[in-house]
Amino acid sequence: MKFLTVTQESLEMGAKILKEGGLVAFPTETVYGLGADAFNPSALAKIFDVKKRPHFDPLIIHIASIDSLENVADFSQIKKETQKTIFLLAENFWPGPLSIVLPKNDRIPGIATAGLSTAAIRFPDNEAAQKLISLSQTAIAAPSANIFGSLSPTRAEHVRDNLGEKIDMILDGGPARIGVESTVLDITGDKIKILRPGGTPREAIERLIGPVEGSETGEHGLDKISSPGQLKNHYAPKTPLYVLKSDDIIRRPFEDGAAFLFFDGLTRDAWRDAQTKTQMLPAAVKVLSESGQMSEAASCLFETLHELDSLNISCIYAQEAPQTGLGEAINDRLMRGAEKLV
Ligand code: TXA
Ligand code: MG
Repeated sequence: MKFLTVTQESLEMGAKILKEGGLVAFPTETVYGLGADAFNPSALAKIFDVKKRPHFDPLIIHIASIDSLENVADFSQIKKETQKTIFLLAENFWPGPLSIVLPKNDRIPGIATAGLSTAAIRFPDNEAAQKLISLSQTAIAAPSANIFGSLSPTRAEHVRDNLGEKIDMILDGGPARIGVESTVLDITGDKIKILRPGGTPREAIERLIGPVEGSETGEHGLDKISSPGQLKNHYAPKTPLYVLKSDDIIRRPFEDGAAFLFFDGLTRDAWRDAQTKTQMLPAAVKVLSESGQMSEAASCLFETLHELDSLNISCIYAQEAPQTGLGEAINDRLMRGAEKLV
């Protein structure tokens, strides 16, 4: 496996590997992706093998221009009105953390989309990703570059530790800027629906196109999944994770070896004041953003969880984020990685 910093040369090597049917992990603005040629079924099969990803879970197809939508989507199946919405979304949010679910064309093999007639398509806002796609002269199917269900990788080192020798190359482009995956938006039904909250906040989408249906956070049976990233126990650290509202985390009695992950510094300080009477010392105390700034918090969410997960602690108590903007995606990832608190 080659582990290389992003340069023109390494990008060209990566493109060559992709063209030959290999797997290349690459940076995007959200999380690192594990890329394969979206038109090559045997390369796509390797993604599922390496990630231990169930074949019912479709991949996101990455393109490097709005024009390339035509190479992957089937516009003959899309109503004129909907086409307008797609281009409105694309012009406003691309490149960026929004995946749009559209009818796919026949060139995209069924394995890419888990047999669905639709594909989630996105144009990432990362120069290395864009160059890699352009140089490989294809579209790149890429899920997050981690074992299915585990914490998403926001650094090249996370990919190396998680997938290592099983892939051909890792392109290191530094830490991911946004830190949570793209928002997955389904525009194929009567109502536009967020299947997975992510890096493009609901509010921004609604300002542009009006109200959209929410992502259901209830428990899903496998047969009912419209977007398998909705599975509970996805994005999970190995350490048991419990998510608490700020009022509850402040007063939470805890045991030896427990760690705390606060959304903001104010809540951490209130917790400290409330804890002065107890003798217990937590194993670690982390804050996603001292000032409670949402994008900063999102960008270090997975990284901080990776860090806590490597400490060999008994459990993590995490504070829920405010449910606005990127907070919806932060809470979604925390809840799905969490155990139920009884
Ligand atoms: O930010 C991201 O989206 C990252 C980077 C690498 O681009 N990718 C990512 O991929 O998060 P993955 O495979 O971990 O998550 C893809 C999500 C899953 O929840 C999947 O079910 C959903 O997108 N999805 C893909 N195709 C779909 C389709 N045709 N219909 C409904 N959901 C789909
Ligand atoms: Mg994933």
